[in-house]
Amino acid sequence: MSLKAEFLDCQKKKVEEIEAVLRRFLPKEEGYQKMIMEAMAYSLLAGGKRLRPMLMKETYLLFSEGDVKEEMALHAFMAAQEMIHTYSLVHDDLPAMDNDDYRRGRKTTHVVFGEDMGILAGDALLNYAFETAAEAFSYAPSKWKEIAEAYRILGRKAGIYGMIGGQVIDVKETGHAVSKDVLDTIYELKTAALIESSMMIGAVLGGAGKGDVKIAEQIAKNVGLAFQIQDDILDVTGSMKALGKPVHSDEKNEKTTYVTLYGVERAKEIVEEKSRKAVLMLKELPGEHAYLEQLFLQLIYREK
Ligand code: IPE
Ligand code: IPE
Ligand code: MG
Ligand code: MG
Ligand code: MG
Repeated sequence: MSLKAEFLDCQKKKVEEIEAVLRRFLPKEEGYQKMIMEAMAYSLLAGGKRLRPMLMKETYLLFSEGDVKEEMALHAFMAAQEMIHTYSLVHDDLPAMDNDDYRRGRKTTHVVFGEDMGILAGDALLNYAFETAAEAFSYAPSKWKEIAEAYRILGRKAGIYGMIGGQVIDVKETGHAVSKDVLDTIYELKTAALIESSMMIGAVLGGAGKGDVKIAEQIAKNVGLAFQIQDDILDVTGSMKALGKPVHSDEKNEKTTYVTLYGVERAKEIVEEKSRKAVLMLKELPGEHAYLEQLFLQLIYREK
């Protein structure tokens, strides 16, 4: 098998493992409120690259030898993070936000279940994420300090100083020119923040010291910025079939992006620069980096 085929095979297995974890943590579809559990599963299990739980686990593995109880705690956080990410997508697609009808290859949650349930499904995923992460305390009670720190990071990076904050500026800065400084803040918050918390939580649960958690945060920041710039590029150059979501959404919503500021070619160069910087910085962390390195490089050329 070629190196690339081996990587893709390995990645496929890792995604399958993550999906099994997600299924395990989803609530039973029962009771008079059953519809909300169905809407949660509809959006969460629709597919998606599972990048954030993958980064969390791979960063964890740089530090930990793998302890079963610790790994159960990690799984709770992986599921929680993908729930938070999925809620951000469900709300991002709402008519009041980007107003998009397709996501992860299917009709968006609000189109299938109605706008009311779209709002509530996002709320439900967000709240259930914190219920899920709290399970970690009962799986690995002796690790309560690490779990408490992971919990703090999960909340902080998803909130007003992280993803929600970024979405707020993104929505406010629509329909007019935006400076590079403001645009970088939007990307750092709306997208990089969850990628940062994924790697930081993996490091913290694996037992990393403060210095290494900081390095993980900086690596993830570069990966996250590159990831959003590539998302902007694909919105212009990609296809709905490959992406599973509509193209030209940014143009429709009059968004300033790296593509409108610099053009596709320069934007591609910046994606590559930031990703290669992340690969170099990986060398400052302990453990075996080969998989993460290949993953960062793959993301430069991703088409979905
Ligand atoms: C989409 O995230 C939203 C952005 C932050 C650009 P992903 O591209 O990771 O979406 P899924 O999880 O694979 O569907
Ligand atoms: C959204 O950015 C980032 C989120 C926090 C959901 P986009 O609006 O560009 O994401 P897509 O293109 O709809 O996935
Ligand atoms: Mg958006
Ligand atoms: Mg959008
Ligand atoms: Mg986009």
